[in-house]
Amino acid sequence: MSSLSYLTNCSFLQILSVAKNRLTGALPRSITNLSTNLEGLYLSENQITGSIPTGIGNLFNLIYSGMPSNLMTGMIPEGIGMLSKLQVLDLSVNKFSKEFPSFIGNNTQLFVLSLAENNLEGSIPSTLENCQRLSQLYLGFNNLVGCIPKQIFSITALHVLNLEANSLVGSLPMEVGNLNGLGILSVSNNKLSGEIPKSLDNCLGLENLFLNGNFFQGTFPRLSSLKGMLQMDISRNNFSGRIPEYIETLPYLQYLNLSYNDFEGQVPQEGIFKNASAISVIGNRKLCGGSPALLLPTCPSQDSKKQRRRFSTGRMIALIIGSVLCLILLLSIVFYCVRKSKKHPHPHPVTDPLEEQLLKISYGDLCKATDGFSSANLIGVGSYGSVYKGSLDLIGKTIYKGFLDRIGNIVAVKVLNLQRGGASKSFIAECKALRNVRHRNLLKIHTICSSIDSKGDDFKALVLDYMANGNLEQWLHPGSGEQHQSKNLSLIQRLNIAVDVAFALNYLHNSCEKPIVHCDLKPSNILLNDDMNAHVGDFGLARFLSEGISSCSQNHTSSRSIKGTIGYVAPEYGMGGEVSTFGDIYSYGILLLEIFTGKKPTDEIFNGSLSLHQFAKLALPERAMEIVDQSLLLVEFEGLNESQTHTNARGRLEMCLVSIINVGVACSRISIKDRMEIGDAMVEMQGIRDLYLGVGRNN
Ligand SMILES: *[C@@H]1O[C@H](CO)[C@@H](O)[C@H](O)[C@H]1NC(C)=O
Ligand SMILES: *[C@@H]1O[C@H](CO)[C@@H](O)[C@H](O)[C@H]1NC(C)=O
Ligand SMILES: *[C@@H]1O[C@H](CO)[C@@H](O)[C@H](O)[C@H]1NC(C)=O
Ligand SMILES: *[C@@H]1O[C@H](CO)[C@@H](O)[C@H](O)[C@H]1NC(C)=O
Ligand SMILES: *[C@@H]1O[C@H](CO)[C@@H](O)[C@H](O)[C@H]1NC(C)=O
Ligand SMILES: *[C@@H]1O[C@H](CO)[C@@H](O)[C@H](O)[C@H]1NC(C)=O
Repeated sequence: MSSLSYLTNCSFLQILSVAKNRLTGALPRSITNLSTNLEGLYLSENQITGSIPTGIGNLFNLIYSGMPSNLMTGMIPEGIGMLSKLQVLDLSVNKFSKEFPSFIGNNTQLFVLSLAENNLEGSIPSTLENCQRLSQLYLGFNNLVGCIPKQIFSITALHVLNLEANSLVGSLPMEVGNLNGLGILSVSNNKLSGEIPKSLDNCLGLENLFLNGNFFQGTFPRLSSLKGMLQMDISRNNFSGRIPEYIETLPYLQYLNLSYNDFEGQVPQEGIFKNASAISVIGNRKLCGGSPALLLPTCPSQDSKKQRRRFSTGRMIALIIGSVLCLILLLSIVFYCVRKSKKHPHPHPVTDPLEEQLLKISYGDLCKATDGFSSANLIGVGSYGSVYKGSLDLIGKTIYKGFLDRIGNIVAVKVLNLQRGGASKSFIAECKALRNVRHRNLLKIHTICSSIDSKGDDFKALVLDYMANGNLEQWLHPGSGEQHQSKNLSLIQRLNIAVDVAFALNYLHNSCEKPIVHCDLKPSNILLNDDMNAHVGDFGLARFLSEGISSCSQNHTSSRSIKGTIGYVAPEYGMGGEVSTFGDIYSYGILLLEIFTGKKPTDEIFNGSLSLHQFAKLALPERAMEIVDQSLLLVEFEGLNESQTHTNARGRLEMCLVSIINVGVACSRISIKDRMEIGDAMVEMQGIRDLYLGVGRNN
C-alpha cells in the first residue's frame, strides 16, 4: 500500500482503483494528500490492514469510496463526515469496531451505505435521517444494540434496509409503512419483539421480507397489497393464530418459511402451498392438513368442513349476485346524482379527512398564495394552463398548519385555461388519475380548487408539489429555459432520473388498481425537486385502460386530433392504434435516448427517414460512444488520459452507456410486440446504475 504515496503528485487524479489485488499493509497517511480532484477510491478485495487515516476528509470531492473485503480495523474516522459529496460508502467485510459513526448523518448525499460484517457497536444513530437520498443501507452482521430509530423510516428513498444479525431490541416501528419504495427488508436474527405493524402493507414494492430469528408475536398481519413478494421468512418467532390465507394469492412467491412459530389450524392448499419444497412449516405443533408432502396430521373433521365449504360456495354465489345487483342500483343512483349536479362537478381527489378539509381551498386563498397570480410567480405555461409558484404562508390561515408540516410552505398552483377546449376534461382526467395513486416519483396533487374567479368565471386549479429544479427539458436543452444554462447533468444524475421515471411508469402500469397510461411522457413533463429526484407529472391526457377509451387524444370522438406530443408519441397511435401501456414504453425509450444522446427526437437531423431510434440502433454497439452526449463524456473522462483507456472506470462507463442505448432502442421499437416491458426496463436500468456505481460484492 505504501506505493500509493507516489501518486500524491498526480494532481488531476480522479479515480483510483486497486481493487481485487493482493495489496497488504496499512493505508499510508499520505493518501490524504492525494489530489482533491479524487472522486472514486476503490480498494476492495485486498488484504489492507490498519485504520483509515482521519485526514481522509481532505478528499472533499470524493463521491465513491469502496473498501469492502479487507482487514481494516479501528474506528471509522470522523473525517468521513466531511465528505459532503459522498454517494457510495462501502466498508463492509472488515474489522472496524467501536461506536457506530454518528457523523454519517453529515454525508447527506449518500445513496449506498454498507458497513455490514464489521464489529461495530452501539446503537444506530437517528442522525442517519439526514441522509434522505439513501437507497441502500446495509448494517448487518455487527454488534449493534438498542432500538431501530424511527427516524430511519423517514428516508423514503430506501430500497434496501438490511439490519440482520445484530442485537437490536424493541419493535418494528409502524413508520416502516412510510417506505413505499422498499424492496428488501431484513431484520432477521436480532432480538426484536412485539407485533408486525399492519402499515407494512404500504410498502408496495416489497419483494423480500426476512423477519426470522426474533421474538415477534401475535397474528401475522394481512399484507395483501404486497403482490410482488418473492421471498418471505418469518421462521423462529412466536407468531400465533392461523396462517394468513392471503399468502395463497401472492403470484410470485417462491419461498415461504413459517417454521418454529406457534401457528395453528389448517395449512392453506393453494398457491405456494402446493409446492412443499418451497415452503417450510416444521416446528408448529398445532398445524394440520396442507399438502400431503408436509406430513402433517390431517385436520379433525375435514370432511364436514369440505361439505360446509361446498354449501358455502352456493351461498357465496348467491351473495355475489346479490352484491352485484346492489352495486348496479347504487351506481345508477350515483350516476343520477352526478348528472343532476353536473353544473358544479366537484371531484374529490383525496380521502384523508385533513385533506378533505383542504378541499375547501378557495380562489381567494390561491390568489393570496400566488400574489394575485403575478407574473413574477409564473413558473411555466403548459399545454392546458399556467403554473404559478405559491406560498401557503401568505394565506395565513391556521387550517393549513398540518398541511404545511407535511408538504412545506411552497407549492405549485396549476391554473387551467378553461377557454381552451378540453381543459375541463383534462382537469377531471388529472384528478381521476391521481386520486388513488401515490408514488414518490409521481407529482402529487395536494388539493384542488373548483370555484368561481373574481370575474365570475369558472376557475379550476390543482395544488401540486413545488419542484425547485424545474423540468428535465430545461436541463437537457438549456437554451429553451433560462434557469439552468450553466448546469450540465452528470451521468449519475441522468441515470437516477431514468430509473425514477421507470419506477413511476411501472407503478402506473402494474401497481394501480387499473393500469393507467400516461399518454404524454416527455422531458417537459418530468419535474425535478431540489434533490434532483424525478417526478412524472401532467396527467392531463392520462387514461385508465379499463374504461374502454381507445385513444390518448383529448377529444375521444375524433381520431384525427393530436395525441400526445410529436416525437414522443408511439407510431401506432398515429395509425389509429388503441391506447396501451406500450405507447408509454415507446415514449420512455425515446426519452432515454434523448437523455443520453442529448438529441431531441424532433431535431432537424431526423427530418428524413432517419429517426432517433434508428440513429441509436445503427450506432450499436461499436459506435455507441459517438452518439452519446459529448458534454457528458467530457465530464466523465476528464483526467482519464490515453494510457488509461482500458481502466476499469472507462470500460465500465462504456458498458453502461451501451446498455442504456440498448434499453432505449428496445423500448422504442416500431412493433409493439418487440418492445420491452417497463418492469424489465426498470430492472435493467437499476442494474446499469448499480454497475456504474460499482455496487455489489463482485465488483
Ligand atoms: C513530487 O514532485 C516534487 C517536485 O515536483 C518532487 O520533488 C517529489 O519527489 C515528487 N514526489 C513523488 C512522490 O514523486
Ligand atoms: C501532505 O502534504 C503536505 C504539504 O505538501 C506535507 O506537509 C505533509 O507532510 C503531507 N502529509 C502526509 C501525511 O504525507
Ligand atoms: C458535520 O457537519 C457540521 C455542520 O455542517 C459540522 O459543523 C461538523 O464539523 C461536521 N462533522 C464532521 C464529523 O464532519
Ligand atoms: C409466545 O406468545 C405467547 C402468547 O401468544 C406467550 O404466552 C408466550 O410466552 C410467548 N413465548 C415466548 C417464548 O415469547
Ligand atoms: C426454515 O427456517 C428454519 C429455521 O430458521 C431452517 O432451519 C430451515 O432450514 C428453513 N427451511 C428452508 C426450506 O429453508
Ligand atoms: C417448487 O419449489 C422449488 C424450490 O423453491 C422450485 O425449484 C420449483 O420450481 C417449484 N416447483 C413448482 C412447480 O413451482
